[in-house]
Amino acid sequence: MPELTIGVLASGRGSNLQSILDAIGEGRLEARVAVVISDNREAMALERARSRGIPAFFVDYKAYPAKADYERVVVRLLNKYGVELVCLAGYMRIATPVLLDAFPNRILNIHPSLLPSFPGLHAQRQALDYGVRYSGCTVHFVDQGVDSGPIILQAVVPVLKDDTEETLSARILAEEHKIYVEAIRLYQRGCLEIEGRRVRIKDIDENK
Ligand code: GRF
Repeated sequence: MPELTIGVLASGRGSNLQSILDAIGEGRLEARVAVVISDNREAMALERARSRGIPAFFVDYKAYPAKADYERVVVRLLNKYGVELVCLAGYMRIATPVLLDAFPNRILNIHPSLLPSFPGLHAQRQALDYGVRYSGCTVHFVDQGVDSGPIILQAVVPVLKDDTEETLSARILAEEHKIYVEAIRLYQRGCLEIEGRRVRIKDIDENK
């Protein structure tokens, strides 16, 4: 299987980016992060990339009157670095058709809830407030909606009696780091097939 060229879009801390880089470094993922792009100049994700010698760019969406123009710059950078798969990792913007059409079925996202429950912002707080007994995280293909694309992998964690948003988020984050890497590995190996809303995982389903 050829090495996969990944571009990561991130707005903040970048721990999912870090787990992808660690998996590559440890030989668990046959991939290369070719570029990291952020809409936040201060994003720690940019620092993490630069410290590894990975090209990292801040693109200021406020500098572009139309969101499509901002995204055209992002797409140009992704193409310049030969990106095959775009991984959104804590990226706070909704993709428009500019990005979606440039990378059809080639954009993944990680979300800290068991979708379709609790899409959007503050998913962990939403889960606590609702009173669910279990929450978790989801890796999905990105479509034009908010956290609404076909689901690839999910992981479940319990919600404990004394959980705060912080403790629940930390428990979920540990699972995010595992399933995002696993979903990228499945993509890289050509195991993912989208059938309507459903994603068929070939090497798992075919051994049943
Ligand atoms: C994660 O919880 C992810 O699921 C959500 O934003 C957070 C990003 O964390 N989309 P990090 O920047 O990867 O540390």
